Amino acid sequence: MLFLGKEIPTPLTLASGILGISFSSLQRVIRDGAGMVTTKSLSIEPRIGHEGPIMAEFNGGLINSVGLTNPGIQDGLAEVEKFHQNCHGVVIVSVFGGNAAEFVELTKAVNDSSADILELNLSCPNVEDEFKRPFALMPDKTTEIVAAVAAVSRIPILAKLSPNSNDITTMAKLAEAAGAHGLTMINTLGHGMVIDAIARRPVLRNNFGGISGPCIKPLAIKLIHDVYQVVKIPILGTGGISTGLDAIEMMMAGASAVAVGTAVYDQGLNVFKSIRAEMEAFMETHGYADYSDLIGILEEN
Ligand code: DHB
Repeated sequence: MLFLGKEIPTPLTLASGILGISFSSLQRVIRDGAGMVTTKSLSIEPRIGHEGPIMAEFNGGLINSVGLTNPGIQDGLAEVEKFHQNCHGVVIVSVFGGNAAEFVELTKAVNDSSADILELNLSCPNVEDEFKRPFALMPDKTTEIVAAVAAVSRIPILAKLSPNSNDITTMAKLAEAAGAHGLTMINTLGHGMVIDAIARRPVLRNNFGGISGPCIKPLAIKLIHDVYQVVKIPILGTGGISTGLDAIEMMMAGASAVAVGTAVYDQGLNVFKSIRAEMEAFMETHGYADYSDLIGILEEN
């Protein structure tokens, strides 16, 4: 199938932030049956991120407050080059800037690399103290950043939207109008808080974090469904997928491809093999010849 003009064997994708940026772990995901991998968001300079604990489990998923830990755009893109030396998988490079000028600088660096698709992380919830409100909550900022990047990018752009926006369909339409070629949705929900009752403290050092995993799947599916009705550009769906059936549901709601994140922590790297096998079995049983036959075919009651 095709996603943003790239031929991919399956719509399965590694979500951003899960396996960092090292080329060998990204290649392993492709070998296990994913069509695309997304890097951890890269910023212009390296970032250490927040003090630990940065992640906490609860019975519906995970909360995290990583703080955009990454080695910086130059080192990150060096890994992308190593990845492509002996692997044909599609690499989505996620970038994070503090303003439109930084996003443009990052885009120019990505232009000089072998990255296939650029994802704009407009919606990290964990760095408000440094960068103020996530851009994906602000219509003017979303338009400004997407338009500035679209003017210089040599490769297709995904705008990553936030479920915390109170009008995600408007944000989606604005990103499309500003030149985004596709949308990634959804980023983590909230902030949430997980408490250690014995210690009488939040588990995360940063107190709060973005929520991911199975508990956000119904929200992701509803928002993808809503956005699918109002845009023409493809959606990379993500949020709580841990089985092949989850992935199929999300595609039926309107996603053209689906990214897996939290389930990698729960099930390990074999999750890509198992989700791929479950999707293929479902399609065989129910007579779908191609992944693209699943996109947006939901019938409403
Ligand atoms: C970070 C966490 C997220 O949940 C996210 O969506 C983006 C970035 C982070 O803290 O690094």
